[in-house]
Amino acid sequence: MATPAIDPKAVAGRAAADLIPDGAVVGLGTGSTVHFVLLRIAERMRGEGLRILGVPTSLDTERKARELSIPLTTLDDIESIDVTVDGADEIDSRFDMTKGGGGALLREKVVASITKRQIAVVSANKLVERLGTTFPLPVEVVPFARGVVRRALLQLGAEATLRVRDGVAVRTDNGNEILDARFPDGIPDTSAMERAIDRIPGVVESGLFVGLAHVLVIGHPDGRVEV
Ligand code: 5RP
Repeated sequence: MATPAIDPKAVAGRAAADLIPDGAVVGLGTGSTVHFVLLRIAERMRGEGLRILGVPTSLDTERKARELSIPLTTLDDIESIDVTVDGADEIDSRFDMTKGGGGALLREKVVASITKRQIAVVSANKLVERLGTTFPLPVEVVPFARGVVRRALLQLGAEATLRVRDGVAVRTDNGNEILDARFPDGIPDTSAMERAIDRIPGVVESGLFVGLAHVLVIGHPDGRVEV
């Protein structure tokens, strides 16, 4: 009988959820890897009585957390977050990341900004030497300004395309649009690029996460997990 294939996102997600301490306020990231984090949190709640208060970074995660009976709170009611577990589209050796493949970059960055211990959880194929080489950089923009931002990104060396699904511009949970910016040689100086993009009028947030992650959990296709 064939052995079932191991999903590196699943092993990483479970291992990351095991790092969450009892009683913590927990930022809940977004995406298919975080899906496994949520399942494992619910399992720990049932099995060992783990108590947490979750802060979801997207409507999708909020819905999934509610379905799993994970108690939630909002940023109006807390000042800081003990630990956040979130995925990434790319991560380099300094733990800088590109995020926003799922369009949740703004809420993810707000949550990361008040998090004491940010855990990035990825499958091994997300590890890169230079950001921007395997995944376009998502930039959340106010729809009115998309043309202005697209031209400004071109000045910064990136060809940006509007994210579209079923022929319609994708709207984020905040009612904005996403430009996916492709840098032909990747992004050599991530801090400088983050600042430059943030300065463009009409940009709400970029998917560059610089200096925000503290712990990296990597799932490998053979089932190994590195922390
Ligand atoms: C969503 C994100 C996700 O964390 C990122 O896209 C990784 O997703 P996945 O775990 O599905 O590969 O930034 O905005």
